[in-house]
Parts: sequence; C-alpha cells; structure tokens
Amino acid sequence: MHTACFRNDASFDWLYPENIQKLSRRHWTPLSVAKKAAHFLADAPGKKILDVGSGVGKFCIIGANFFPDCHFCGVEQRRELYDHAHAAKTMAGVNNADFIHGNFTQIEMGEYDNFYFYNSFFENIDQDGRIDDRLEYSVSLYIYYSRYLFKGLNARPPGTRLVTFHSLEEEVPPDYKLVDASPDMLLKMWIKW
Ligand SMILES: C[S@@+](CC[C@H](N)C(=O)[O-])C[C@H]1O[C@@H](n2cnc3c(N)ncnc32)[C@H](O)[C@@H]1O
Repeated sequence: MHTACFRNDASFDWLYPENIQKLSRRHWTPLSVAKKAAHFLADAPGKKILDVGSGVGKFCIIGANFFPDCHFCGVEQRRELYDHAHAAKTMAGVNNADFIHGNFTQIEMGEYDNFYFYNSFFENIDQDGRIDDRLEYSVSLYIYYSRYLFKGLNARPPGTRLVTFHSLEEEVPPDYKLVDASPDMLLKMWIKW
C-alpha cells in the first residue's frame, strides 16, 4: 500500500498530471469528505459501493484504501478521466476499486448496495467551470439523468445508503431519510427506510 498519497489532498493529487490536478478543487472530492462518505457507505464487510460519475477515481481510491473489506466501483462517461482513474489506482496500490467507462444509465444499479453522488449532472446547467467543452450539455439532459438516478435509487431495497455532496437533491427519493450531514450541509448521508 502506498500510504504517502493518502496524507492530504496535495499528496493525492500528485497521482495525476497537472491539468487534472488543476481541476481538483472544484471537481474531485476532498480527501476528508471521501473518508467520511466512505465510512458511512462501507457499513458492513463485502458491501459494493458505486460512485455515479467517478471522474479520475478520487472517491473510490480513497474509499478502497481506508475500507479494504468493501468494494468501490466508479462509472465515468469521459474516457480520459476513466484512464486517469485506472492509472491512479495502480499507483496508489489498491485492489478493491474498479472503474467502468460509460454513461451511468448503462449500469445495473441492482448490482450495488450503496451509492455516492457528487452532483455529477450539474455540468448540464452550469455554464461556468465545466471540465471541458467536448460534451453536449442541456437542461433536458440534467432532468433526464436526475430522474433516471431517482428511479434507480427508488428501486433499491430499504437499508440502502446514499451520500450526496453539493447536491440539489432532485435525485433523492422521499423514502431516503437524512441521517447525518456536515455542518455546512454540503455532505449528506441518507438511508432508505
Ligand atoms: C463532480 S465530478 C466528481 C468526480 C468523482 N465522483 C469525485 O468525487 O472525485 C462528476 C463526474 O461525473 C461525470 N458524469 C457526469 N454525468 C455522467 C453520466 N451521465 N454518466 C457517467 N458519468 C457522468 C463527469 O464526467 C465528472 O467526471
């Protein structure tokens, strides 16, 4: 295990090239948030956790390092970011994380126990600070993705855990009860009743 990269955000971000490091503050989960979220989602050995929109894999790799009894999987639509996630996972030396390149709508959510969501669809309605301009963005895509995730989460059994970070909560079904939150209310922990 290469523990040095898990000391702080700057150390972790060194796993990536400079152009990816520059996106970190705005687009990748901070180390302290990833640890807290993963602690809540890794509630029993063997749990499978899905990061919906995994970027360069920061949440999954940190979660996998600190909770080796659980499995962290990320799905990411941008090929370049998916490639960086793979490379970072190898450098970090974790075995219990993997990544899928594709749209989350292609994923069978039933294969996972718990879910992490860092406001991935917001880029469709936010004109500033997008990761790149290579995709098509629209309000209808934002609504489509949010509803799709809502339905997927709604179909999961009671006890399912969800963590949202910076979310507008349009994807959170009413059966998910808020059980914990950070003082600034940006990080929220939910359990399906
Ligand atoms: C805010 S970043 C978060 C990255 C990562 N979860 C983390 O916390 O470090 C959101 C990511 O979601 C991805 N994304 C957005 N819509 C997606 C979709 N429909 N399917 C898969 N990935 C998506 C974006 O490409 C971006 O990399």
